[in-house]
Amino acid sequence: MLQNKPQTCFIFGLFFLSTAALAAEPDVARQKELIHLVRQDCGSCHGMTLKGGLGPALLPEDLRDKPAEGLAATIYYGRPGTPMPPWKAFMSEAEAAWIVDKLMTRFPD
Ligand code: HEC
Repeated sequence: MLQNKPQTCFIFGLFFLSTAALAAEPDVARQKELIHLVRQDCGSCHGMTLKGGLGPALLPEDLRDKPAEGLAATIYYGRPGTPMPPWKAFMSEAEAAWIVDKLMTRFPD
C-alpha cells in the first residue's frame, strides 16, 4: 500500500490544481492580456475610458444593478441582433466573469 501513496497524492494534487484553476483568477500575464483586450478591442465600441460609444458605458455605476452572470454571458456569447459580438474565441467563461468582476469594481489601466 505504501508504494501507492505518492501516486494518490499526485492524482489528488492534479484534481486540486484543476479545480483551483477553474475558480481562481487568470494568472498575472493573462490578466495583462485581458486588460489590454478590453481597453483596445472593447474600447473601440465602449470607449477607451469605458464611458460608452457605440456600446453602452461599462463603468461600475452603470453596471451596479445588473446581474454579473448576465453581463459575463453577454461578453462570452455576444448579443445577437446588436453589434455586441461574442468573445468566446478569445477567452474562457471564467475570464469573461473576471472581466465583469473588474468592470464592476474598478477596471485596471
Ligand atoms: C462592435 C462593437 C462592440 C464591441 C467591439 C464590444 N461591444 Fe460590448 N456591446 C456593444 C453594444 C452595441 C452593446 C449593447 C447591446 C444591446 O443593445 O443590448 C454591448 C453590450 C455590452 C455589455 C452589456 C452592458 C449592459 O449594460 O447590459 C457588456 C458587459 C459588454 N458589451 C462588454 C463588452 C466587452 C468586455 C467587450 C470586449 C471583450 C465588448 N463589449 C466589445 C458593442 C460592442
